Amino acid sequence: MHPSPITLIGLQAATMQSSDRSGADPYGLIQDAALVLAEGRIAWVGPRADLPAEHARLPQHDCGNRLITPALIDCHTHVVHGGNRATEFEMRLEGATYEEVARAGGGIISTVKATRTASQADLVDQALPFVDAMIAEGVAVIEIKSGYGLNQVTELRMLRAAREIATLRKITVKTSYLPAQAIPPDYYDRADAYIDDVAIPALHAAHAEGLVEAVDGFCEGIAFSPAQIERLFTVARALNLPVKLHAEQLSNLGGAALAARFNAISADHLEYLDEAGVIAMAAAGTVAVILPGAFYTLRETQAPPVALLRKHNVPMAVATDMNPGSSPMSSLLLAMNMACTLFRMTPAEALAGTTINAARALNLPSHGTLAAGQVADLAIWNAQHPAELAYRIGFNPLHQRIIGGAL
Ligand code: NIG
Ligand code: FE
Repeated sequence: MHPSPITLIGLQAATMQSSDRSGADPYGLIQDAALVLAEGRIAWVGPRADLPAEHARLPQHDCGNRLITPALIDCHTHVVHGGNRATEFEMRLEGATYEEVARAGGGIISTVKATRTASQADLVDQALPFVDAMIAEGVAVIEIKSGYGLNQVTELRMLRAAREIATLRKITVKTSYLPAQAIPPDYYDRADAYIDDVAIPALHAAHAEGLVEAVDGFCEGIAFSPAQIERLFTVARALNLPVKLHAEQLSNLGGAALAARFNAISADHLEYLDEAGVIAMAAAGTVAVILPGAFYTLRETQAPPVALLRKHNVPMAVATDMNPGSSPMSSLLLAMNMACTLFRMTPAEALAGTTINAARALNLPSHGTLAAGQVADLAIWNAQHPAELAYRIGFNPLHQRIIGGAL
């Protein structure tokens, strides 16, 4: 059942339809806009003065001279997990690095222990407050990864928890299967055997259950080598599943170029990405997902090569990377602000990064822009100009979220 058709007026619209983020109007702005919503979609958008007669007789809702944008999309989260790592935060403040904590059996592995003992209901209960915080900021789509199970039963439980969240809240969830996030203790020094014994068989099982929309990995010295990731990606390709990769976060192993060879929908983090990797991503149409929360939390000093990504027209997305270790941050608006302040992205790039380009990073072309035919997932803001969204720190300007055309 769709809500009845309605026309929204009293709006300035940031359609995010502009292809030129550095041009005069990178937001695709329409002053005094009207949006017609019907059957869960945008039926028409444009200047109110041009509203076609066929729509003029619909009921109108005056939005009080506010800003409307596509609802936001958080395209990289680990929001489903057990426990938290506040004590590790303390350790790092006393001088331990993220890698040292990981090598000492803490880090991702400590979350694996807490996740393996959690039921599906526990995982959902623990995730919902963070999901609600995202919703409160105008988010309508989130990606959720597995990756803290590292055995078949827990990886699948995480993905089922992600699916359950989509039934409990008005939010679209895209799942990514991330078996190669860390080497579990039982496979210490046997990462290849882990790929063969666990990662690949569990991929088949999760896929058969319809739980996987993309396959993800962590290509890094403390995680998996390019050759190991390649074996996982080869199976994903045979199953027709898109891939994405945590690449070049702490060092440059050529992960982004590897991902591009598999036509990855995204490569994420990218602090150590070089120009050859950027060019490979550009050729493959791979989105660069920028994750300032992890850069900030780990007090990294090398920023991702935003200027090179811009130069080669690689679309940039921005996400929270919400997770208990490297990015305990659930605010996508804060991620946008950090992308600007820490990485010198423009507010228009940050908003494109949480709308049109985040949709691309999730293979969701029906979302992330205001245009006829798009899903009517919208955010109305107590703001006059879209730059206000990335500009404020710790203030939530959301007025209203519209999901599937329902006010
Ligand atoms: O995206 N880089 C790998 N995975 C996560 C970290 C997860 C964790 O520390 O628990 C990330 O930063
Ligand atoms: Fe991540």
